[in-house]
Amino acid sequence: MTTAQTKLNIGVIGNGSISSAHLDAYADCAEAVLIAVCDLNETRAQEAAAKYGAAKVYTNYHELLADPEIDAVSICTWNNTHAEISIAALQAGKHVLCEKPLCRTVEEALRVEAAVRESGKVLQVGFVRRYASNTALVKRFLDAGDLGEIYYAKATCLRRLGNPGGWFSDSGRSGGGPLIDLGVHIIDVCWYLMGKPKVKSVSGNTYRKLGNRAHIQNLSFYKAADYNAELNDVEDLANALIRFENGASLLVDVSFTLHAKKDELSVKLYGDKGGAELEPELAIMTEQQNTIVNISPQVDNLSFNFKEAFSQEINHFVQSGLGRAQTLSPVEDGLEITKILCAIYESAASGKEIQFSE
Ligand SMILES: NC(=O)c1ccc[n+]([C@@H]2O[C@H](COP(=O)([O-])OP(=O)(O)OC[C@H]3O[C@@H](n4cnc5c(N)ncnc54)[C@H](O)[C@@H]3O)[C@@H](O)[C@H]2O)c1
Repeated sequence: MTTAQTKLNIGVIGNGSISSAHLDAYADCAEAVLIAVCDLNETRAQEAAAKYGAAKVYTNYHELLADPEIDAVSICTWNNTHAEISIAALQAGKHVLCEKPLCRTVEEALRVEAAVRESGKVLQVGFVRRYASNTALVKRFLDAGDLGEIYYAKATCLRRLGNPGGWFSDSGRSGGGPLIDLGVHIIDVCWYLMGKPKVKSVSGNTYRKLGNRAHIQNLSFYKAADYNAELNDVEDLANALIRFENGASLLVDVSFTLHAKKDELSVKLYGDKGGAELEPELAIMTEQQNTIVNISPQVDNLSFNFKEAFSQEINHFVQSGLGRAQTLSPVEDGLEITKILCAIYESAASGKEIQFSE
């Protein structure tokens, strides 16, 4: 008789800004054991190892992947390395939690998907908003049919000053600007809650009008670990209309810089029996007794709770790696979102609507 594995041994590749959300969540997860960290920047990796108690420090991810003690990895590196590291990790027999976006191109996403199939290992895409309690609550209303059929969704993530610089603004390493960085989250959470409908067509626009506004003073914002404002060849603003085969549509806009009065985050879904707002604040709208009723769920957090969502994402990954759960964000969904993002960029470049066909 074999004893089922009860703990998952973890390596975290990329020890910059977002890795601390992974490392904190692994530290809080009783069934995860942090074994190793890895970063091109050795000092950064040493600091993460000291803070979180990792016994091993690598600067070359291939060496971490060759370590037989490690069962699973988080990939928290630049976007241009996600596909290559995911494939190498799967081939080395590790489960993978890959930060969003899954990768930069559809061709890369197809190769990662093939590697998942061939390895039989779990790959979870870091669509962290799927794991947030509020998303799960809205999904319960949707699954129960309380909102009817969702035919329209609208999502906005506008930063007036928020180009993180460094690799984020270097399209070779990031694959793009606010669309691939922020749009990926809000497009994904809408598509997921809409029931993952098949895409029919995509029409998008991108703009480079303001640059990164690095001259602005007295206002702080999220920066890459190696912040550098010199290189910026990504869009400032993107918008898109995504049509689905079931007739539903999704309207999105995202920015790194914009002459907006303030930053704006909203995620809204409209059905034929009711509506839901996930951001900026959870709310459900419906009708009762010929009266419009706005429902305010009484929950701990009315909007996205970063720490809780990462903790739930990591716990779900660990449970999936131990064979006790199915990931909520599999590689196939990462591929579909990559197709949408790439089609938006293609539409913006060509000035034409992109039709999806089987
Ligand atoms: N889920 C979220 O809300 C969220 C938020 C921020 C960033 N992210 C994603 O996380 C990833 C990392 O973003 P970040 O903000 O932490 O960036 P960052 O620049 O702060 O950190 C990235 C780290 O990766 C290291 N690195 C790059 N290539 C490497 C390689 N081949 N091997 C080892 N280390 C390597 C860099 O040296 C750096 O320390 C990105 O894909 C980003 O899209 C997700």
